[in-house]
Amino acid sequence: MNVIANKQIILGVSGSIAAYKAAELARSLSLGGALVDVIMTEAAQRFVGAPTFQALTGRPVLADMWALPEDGVVGHVALGRRADLVVLAPATANTIARIAAGLSDDLLTTTVLATSAPVLCAPAMNPQMYANPATQANIATLRQRGVAVLEPGFGRMAEPQVGLGRMPEPAVIEGHARALLGRAGGPLRGRRVVVSAGGTHEPIDPVRFIGNRASGRMGFALAGAARDGGAQVTLVAGPAALPPPPAVDLVRVETALQMRDAVYAAVEGADLLIMNAAVADFRPAERAERKIKKGDDDEMLLRLVRNPDILAGLAARRDLVKVGFAAETHDLAAYALSKLERKGLDMIIANEAVASIGHDDIEVTLFDAQGAQRLPRQPKEQAAAAILEAIIRRWPARLAPT
Ligand code: C5P
Repeated sequence: MNVIANKQIILGVSGSIAAYKAAELARSLSLGGALVDVIMTEAAQRFVGAPTFQALTGRPVLADMWALPEDGVVGHVALGRRADLVVLAPATANTIARIAAGLSDDLLTTTVLATSAPVLCAPAMNPQMYANPATQANIATLRQRGVAVLEPGFGRMAEPQVGLGRMPEPAVIEGHARALLGRAGGPLRGRRVVVSAGGTHEPIDPVRFIGNRASGRMGFALAGAARDGGAQVTLVAGPAALPPPPAVDLVRVETALQMRDAVYAAVEGADLLIMNAAVADFRPAERAERKIKKGDDDEMLLRLVRNPDILAGLAARRDLVKVGFAAETHDLAAYALSKLERKGLDMIIANEAVASIGHDDIEVTLFDAQGAQRLPRQPKEQAAAAILEAIIRRWPARLAPT
């Protein structure tokens, strides 16, 4: 599921102060196993030196249209031809305008014009330049031609100004790069996957709730792995402090009832549901309109009512591959197998609750009608990829690329 391993990615860097952040992106893509060829415009070289990118990617930086080796193909179009993905980060107003106009007056624009690979564009510029109708029209042109143009971030610019024009964070750009590569050749391309993550908060009054220790990390990792596989992912997330994975459709919820409604809406037309969320079994029977005062009593009784079982309510959806999680403190296998049966699931993923909730690593056992498969203890991101691979292997026809 490592969608960027051995992929040829061209990182086009233009002249913006955000070019220093492109170095972080080059590093992260290279560490992921991609072969990153950095092309710098002349202006980019005034902001960051080529040796920085060369050291991070382990490959020569390209800037001169006339200095390319001719490996059988005309030099200046060779790069674009062999690329799996072109990432423009940062993309200045000038670079965007030149690409929209179809110019090929330097190595970067020539490469973009000559490539058939997907192109991802991360704009970075002064807020006035971004808002200018000329830039907006150029961006609309790129989008119309199939370029994935990200929204810039809002915030403080290099000059003392706040506005819309900051380059999206490298992790966000990388998430979108993974999504594009997945959609081009991943095992889940064309499929729709729904993942629930985190815990739920069941309100007692406007300031208090009943919750649990779920961090959301495992579910977020599963959503990211499904995205990398090329799926269109809806992530239904309870309250979580972690940043959600980029390039997924995020639906934020708070309570079990909200999660049920969001999951039921999202699974319409979906192929796979992974219910990782730690849904509260009970909620307070009443939610006080105003903050409850402690008064003089030494005890307080809270009446709880049962929440609906989201997974069990989907028993009739035979077309949907349904995967649940079982976090237990004891009798793991027995509880997992009874949930597999009772909730009408295709697979249940069991883990030891205390050793996994809130931890970075997880050890899981996958139970389905064919038996059990234990995965070694590993970081949740790796476990997520391994789980998805196992699910795809188990139902190759139902989850085949379309
Ligand atoms: O019954 P238990 O909560 O242990 O089952 C865990 C599995 O069932 C998880 O996949 C969880 O997301 C799901 N679940 C649910 N609706 C609930 C409670 C749990 O779908 N109300």
